Amino acid sequence: MKKRVAVLISGRGSNLKALIDACATTDFPAEIALVVSNKADAAGLAVARDAGIPAVVIPHVDFASREAFDSAIDAGLERARIDIVCEAGFMRIHSDAFVRKWEGKMLNIHPSLLPAFKGIRVHQQALDAGVKISGCTVHFIVAELDSGPIVAQAAVPVLPGDSVESLSARVLVEEHRIYPEALRLLAEGSVRLENGRAVFC
Ligand code: GRF
Repeated sequence: MKKRVAVLISGRGSNLKALIDACATTDFPAEIALVVSNKADAAGLAVARDAGIPAVVIPHVDFASREAFDSAIDAGLERARIDIVCEAGFMRIHSDAFVRKWEGKMLNIHPSLLPAFKGIRVHQQALDAGVKISGCTVHFIVAELDSGPIVAQAAVPVLPGDSVESLSARVLVEEHRIYPEALRLLAEGSVRLENGRAVFC
């Protein structure tokens, strides 16, 4: 039985597209059953609809608290019988209760080699630090932002003269490669979250 995946987005949706394409390949152990955006104008919504995937907008601004917003998302996930949540450019921080409920079943992609450069303006942080290597990380989501156990990483060189645009484009190619790989590992049971560590088997 394929695992039912929800992808949470706020914007462009290129990682969503990579996950959709991976799920369309033979024997992939997961299917995208739902896309949720907190922004009505997220370009990724059209990516979902083009693929025939149900896409809903749950605007965070409609809710009085983080908890209430997360409850609405959780209700949508339950209705769609979701097994795994993939965040892909989703720009909201979750309440502790939501994270606890989905712990071990929720992945995020971040465009740096964590634990370096958490938060926002990640590529600018990397350029400012003068690192020679950057990359991307897929990790389990835990309460602390951009800090969960690592499932997959890929490195790219930072080249002389790189801009945020050129570096982010190089990293994005790797994001689109490792996110489907990480989802496969979780969906087929080859990685699990145990005592705060990613355990591979
Ligand atoms: C990606 O760089 C991802 O790592 C970060 O936000 C960006 C989302 O891009 N969390 P997209 O919406 O998947 O194109």
